[in-house]
Amino acid sequence: MLTEPQKNVSLAPFNSLALPALAGRYVRVTASEQLMALTGTRRCFVLGGGSNLVLTGDFDGLVLHMAISGRALIGEDAHAWRVRAGAGENWHDFVQWTLAQGWPGLENLSLIPGTAGAAPVQNIGAYGLEVAERFLWLTAFDLQTGKSARFEREDCRFGYRDSVFKREGWHLNGRYVITEIVFELPKRWTPLTGYADIGEWLAARRISTPSPGNVADAVISARRRKLPDPARLPNVGSFFQNPAVDETKAVELLELYPDLPRYPQPDGRVKLSAGWLIERAGWKGKRIGPVGMYEKHALVLVNHGGARGLDVVALTRAVQSGVSEKFGVELQPEPVFL
Ligand code: EPU
Repeated sequence: MLTEPQKNVSLAPFNSLALPALAGRYVRVTASEQLMALTGTRRCFVLGGGSNLVLTGDFDGLVLHMAISGRALIGEDAHAWRVRAGAGENWHDFVQWTLAQGWPGLENLSLIPGTAGAAPVQNIGAYGLEVAERFLWLTAFDLQTGKSARFEREDCRFGYRDSVFKREGWHLNGRYVITEIVFELPKRWTPLTGYADIGEWLAARRISTPSPGNVADAVISARRRKLPDPARLPNVGSFFQNPAVDETKAVELLELYPDLPRYPQPDGRVKLSAGWLIERAGWKGKRIGPVGMYEKHALVLVNHGGARGLDVVALTRAVQSGVSEKFGVELQPEPVFL
């Protein structure tokens, strides 16, 4: 088994923004045993599908490119199927496979780019569902001790597009590398159709009791309509997180902008739509050099061709300043910057 890292490997084919960068050392990891030989590595980066990543330049450490495959039913009881995915499984293919087996529960997360191993890191979410809600446990290899550890849901400390893996920077500092994930898929399934995009798709087809496949098709249709295909127009999906502000700030903004989209949170804060703020700050469809904010969805940063990491950094800062000056709201990027 090849574990000897390769030197100076181009990461351009492995990131969906198609940014150029070299990895000082690179290993494609197809089995967790390979990680054993890498115990003690400190400066490393765990790469999944590269669909939530901004490469700002060359990386002088070790890139672990996760390609562990495998899908299996590992157990079931009266309430749920327990299904395992290797960290390198393509997320959308895995979701489609669960649906084809007759195991519902992940359909709202159809067509999200990336790998299964990356899904818990930023707790991917869409159309009213976060992966945390279907998560049972995961196995991660500890590069410092050379042992595998199991993380239950509580251990992962999931938040909005967040987990302990992201918060502690473990994808960067040579600690835990996720190797497999187990999901719990409910036998008593109820469709999540609260989002307008899904409700309208079903209504147009007069579907009143949707199947999991119907919901998946509705989600796929909405994503294809709104989000650019990274293979044609390189991007990383939503580029900024939807910001949460306190109630006083939300009321202040609402007086100035009565059509401000707002989503009250259980903790009393109010989540705003980053896409709306960016559009109203004048950045929808606007470009700086080779990069721009997508003309059909202001939240998506796109590479029109030939962009470098620093072009992305410049646009990130310009959009953040534009939104901050107009609304007094600070936007945080969603992807990881390396
Ligand atoms: N909007 C605008 N202008 C735009 C885009 C959006 O005004 O150019 C406003 C609209 O008012 C719209 C609202 O923003 O009603 C919300 O937009 P949308 O329904 O597209 O959802 P989003 O908040 O932009 C979030 C997730 C997406 C997820 C969708 C659907 C974040 C940062 N993004 O987007 O996740 O697919 O909801 O659930 O939470 C991703 O993380 O990469 C991603 C695509």
